[in-house]
Amino acid sequence: MANERSKSDKGVFEAVVSANKQIGRIFYRLGLEFSGAGAAAFAKSKAGQFAELDLSGAALPRAEAIPEELADKAQRRILLRRPFSFCDVSEHKEKTPVDILYSIVGPASLRMTTLSAGDSVSVIGPLGSGFWVPEGKKTALLVAGGMGAGPLLLLAKVLTASWPKINVIAFAGAKTKEELPFERTLDEVSQHVGFSVAEFAEYGVTSMVATDDGSAGYNGLVTDCFSEWLGKQSLAAKETIVYSCGPEEMLGRVAKIAGKKKFDCQISMERRMGCGIGVCQSCVVECKVNGSNKRVYKLCCEDGPVFDAKEVVFD
Ligand SMILES: Cc1cc2nc3c(=O)[nH]c(=O)nc-3n(C[C@H](O)[C@H](O)[C@H](O)COP(=O)(O)OP(=O)(O)OC[C@H]3O[C@@H](n4cnc5c(N)ncnc54)[C@H](O)[C@@H]3O)c2cc1C
Ligand code: FES
Repeated sequence: MANERSKSDKGVFEAVVSANKQIGRIFYRLGLEFSGAGAAAFAKSKAGQFAELDLSGAALPRAEAIPEELADKAQRRILLRRPFSFCDVSEHKEKTPVDILYSIVGPASLRMTTLSAGDSVSVIGPLGSGFWVPEGKKTALLVAGGMGAGPLLLLAKVLTASWPKINVIAFAGAKTKEELPFERTLDEVSQHVGFSVAEFAEYGVTSMVATDDGSAGYNGLVTDCFSEWLGKQSLAAKETIVYSCGPEEMLGRVAKIAGKKKFDCQISMERRMGCGIGVCQSCVVECKVNGSNKRVYKLCCEDGPVFDAKEVVFD
């Protein structure tokens, strides 16, 4: 990961599925393996970047595995590729394994569940700009909402491996315990702030969990958990950075909390993406122009998905 925002070379590659595992009730983890030029390109990818997957050839699951609310939508043809970010990227001999954490929300992610080891998937990537680390940071605070935990898990891995002097602390929230996208935690859930997610702990990162219904960890929004925790700390503004990924409403709150503390803050935005490569203009994000009241529209796929929180206009 770089000190400044940067991109890596993209391309169209064939990836081979290595695994596709259900995690808990609603999540899946898809393992893809790249070789050759794809391995080289994805080995250089950054936490926060994404790829466009062609899922048009994936089969529908059997009827009883299709959620009732998707029964009609399930039959739709998948014309457009879908964007997904990475929760893990590693290097293994000549190959680059890349993992994606996902849940079923529509026809493409539904079909994604039928991919199995040995299947081939066309992938465009790595795309967009990932997270970056400005000079002089000593504390990185990661705030994830739901599926937003994926890219922040990869960020935790990269930060602890390449920036060992930065103390990393993660906050992960969801509506309820079953919607926390982690594999190895649900039996160990404590009712107290200070609960540690095994996936973050693997990288030596302390983490706290919040659920809206109080079924695990802090009882309330992850942003309230984060804010309360911050209230008990005395962190130097220049040395602290907040990274966040999750629903837009949550990102707006995180941006506000970080802004009040004068912390740098980077957020990963989501937009519906028609192409992922700056052509269709479907993914605009309203941004402020530094030092003026002017507004510009930037492209989530090309200029983001990671933005400096100060520049994004929230509703
Ligand atoms: C940069 C980026 C990274 C992403 N990373 C992940 C990831 O790691 N894991 C994951 O599960 N999903 C991720 N997504 C979201 C994923 O691309 C969409 O959910 C995708 O459209 C699913 O396709 P589908 O056919 O199953 O559902 P669709 O029918 O396309 O969408 C289902 C529902 O979700 C809404 N929706 C779809 N895409 C978006 C979006 N981008 N923003 C807001 N609402 C949307 C639709 O309006 C619809 O209501 C990411 C999106 C972006 C832009
Ligand atoms: S998705 Fe087409 S321009 Fe961004």
